[in-house]
Amino acid sequence: MTFMARHAFLVFLISLTFGLADDTCGETFSSHASDSPMFLQTDLHAHKGTQPQQCGGLIEGCIGNPLTYFNNNEICHTNQADFSRSIVEVMREHPDEDGYCHFNGSAMYIFYPGPNPDYAANAARGILSLRIPTYMGLNTGPLVTYHWEGETVSTHVDADNYALDDLYGFFLGALQNQGMDTKALFDPEALEEFSRRKCEQIQAEYQFRDDELIFKDILDMNLPILAQCHCAAGIPLSPVLALNPYVTEKAGYRSPSDCKPVRKRELARHHYMKCVLGYKNSAFDLAYLHARACLLPGNRIGHLSECPYKPEGV
Ligand SMILES: *[C@@H]1O[C@H](CO)[C@@H](O)[C@H](O)[C@H]1NC(C)=O
Repeated sequence: MTFMARHAFLVFLISLTFGLADDTCGETFSSHASDSPMFLQTDLHAHKGTQPQQCGGLIEGCIGNPLTYFNNNEICHTNQADFSRSIVEVMREHPDEDGYCHFNGSAMYIFYPGPNPDYAANAARGILSLRIPTYMGLNTGPLVTYHWEGETVSTHVDADNYALDDLYGFFLGALQNQGMDTKALFDPEALEEFSRRKCEQIQAEYQFRDDELIFKDILDMNLPILAQCHCAAGIPLSPVLALNPYVTEKAGYRSPSDCKPVRKRELARHHYMKCVLGYKNSAFDLAYLHARACLLPGNRIGHLSECPYKPEGV
């Protein structure tokens, strides 16, 4: 998941913990729209000589459902009618638009980042922002071994988001030492091309039908996937999520020993959503997942200073 995803997850946790989740949409989201969407309209206008791009967004003053708010804000979205449709169909109707623009603000990890994203900087920001509040340092978390669909891989879960991001990165082959070229983080065209190929591989293997790609169904699996990654690792989910039926029902999560481990198909579907919404968006995930972790001998996932590349300032 991207920086936005994990950031979203933390804000979700913090909001529930401190009872802030009933902020109005506008107030809550404005503080996270930091990737200067302000400059976007002039940019497009200047470069393409077309009308400024009109992105979707949240209806001003709308108060969302506090339980689903950060992961699926359908009820407050200007394009809410498209949430119940296949993203393949929606994008067919908007061939020149970025899907993160159309669905801007629909979840805390879906914000239109503008036409020229800085992938390396975004990855570093994501890593830093996710250290709060649980990160205690390299290899301070429990060493776990994931068991899922016949494969095993191990990692230190140094922060809550590691349970998902490590397995997701490993599954996508986006970790360092899995073949992805680190230089692509600094070469947007190369990264987006690499991402496009990865997306095509995923679809060749999993062959998602249009009706498996209903936008809101995928959004609603975001936290359940996190729960299912905890399950695959055999570690407990944080209580605030373990007690939330929006998370546990779809995850099939009752306890650390009575739960469903994540399926590759579900991780693939999560990523493929971003592919369909635009290769820039899937490229963001790859950059973030690559920057933070690597595959080490013994099928252990290492992080940061254990890896060949560590982002500056992290
Ligand atoms: C995306 O949505 C956010 C929150 O509603 C808003 O602040 C931002 O301006 C929107 N971005 C674009 C490009 O419209």
